[in-house]
Amino acid sequence: ALITLRQLLDHAAEHGYGVPAFNINNMEQGLAILRAAAACEAPVILQASRGARSYAGDIMLRNMVAALAEMHPDIPIVMHQDHGNNEATCLSAIRHGFTSVMMDGSLEEDMKTPASYDYNLHITRRVTQAAHAVGASVEGELGVLGSLETGVAGEEDGSGAEGKLSQDQLLTDPDQAVDFVLATKCDALAIACGTSHGAYKFSRKPDGDILSMATIEAIHRNLPSTHLVMHGSSSVPQYLQDLINGNGGDMPQTYGVPVEEIERGIQMGVRKVNIDTDCRMAMTGQFRKLARDKPTEFDPRKFMIPAMAELETLCRDRFERFGTAGQA
Ligand code: G3H
Ligand code: 13P
Ligand code: NA
Ligand code: ZN
Repeated sequence: ALITLRQLLDHAAEHGYGVPAFNINNMEQGLAILRAAAACEAPVILQASRGARSYAGDIMLRNMVAALAEMHPDIPIVMHQDHGNNEATCLSAIRHGFTSVMMDGSLEEDMKTPASYDYNLHITRRVTQAAHAVGASVEGELGVLGSLETGVAGEEDGSGAEGKLSQDQLLTDPDQAVDFVLATKCDALAIACGTSHGAYKFSRKPDGDILSMATIEAIHRNLPSTHLVMHGSSSVPQYLQDLINGNGGDMPQTYGVPVEEIERGIQMGVRKVNIDTDCRMAMTGQFRKLARDKPTEFDPRKFMIPAMAELETLCRDRFERFGTAGQA
């Protein structure tokens, strides 16, 4: 059944587990993620970006998620807007059946310019009032996602903040987080701790200098009734880099957030863990492999079946390691 983010994360906090939030754009991703959730008896967050909404269309997304919920009646599902850029995006998501929205006011509407604290606070408060009036949840974001190594957002496709960011933008301030949550009443708070979107997060296996678990701990210590969210949480595992590059791909060597660091984050209070890049790599790795192994194949289902299986394996691993398994 569809539930709100607040309902799910309250349960996660009470029982000390984390919930992966997987991005979806199409039926095959939805099928694979829900197969994993059902196998693990895990609740799950499905999230759609603005790009996903324009790719699949709101009517398709709404009915797809309704179909997944009907196929898996025992699995609690949150349908979440990822990185809403303004009030209109968030409110139209709610009208299309999303039970939760992210109002990302860390950036201005263009999603490139870091926003003032004042702008962020006011727009997040307005969206939260409107969402709560109709029973939907809201995630806010404080701090700007980007690399502590380079000071830039690092997203290869050009999304994310533009220009050089300062260290204090890249690490959320714990006192400001308290103020922000009290003022906005958001249900969940995304924070900046050194992670960034996309495959190219770190040039080496991250340590405390470039991935700040201390920031998470400091924020969680005093945070009022709100749940912590970690964006940019793909692990970019070596086996998926090898699968892609071993089948004609050419991704430069890179490092993501090790799963054991996410596990530590969950111990420190992280409840929602955003993962998109790993899911993309799992499917694309198997597309490449099939294309290379069977050059005569042209039935798309023959590509989709191993791609869904690889994504299901990845999701099952995250449900097990985040403690989500068995919580449905
Ligand atoms: O935060 C970004 C997510 O990975 C979604 O990416 O906007 O390309 O759908 P997208
Ligand atoms: P990744 O690019 O690390 O998968 O992060 C996804 C994300 O934060 C979506 O909001
Ligand atoms: Na989100
Ligand atoms: Zn994100």
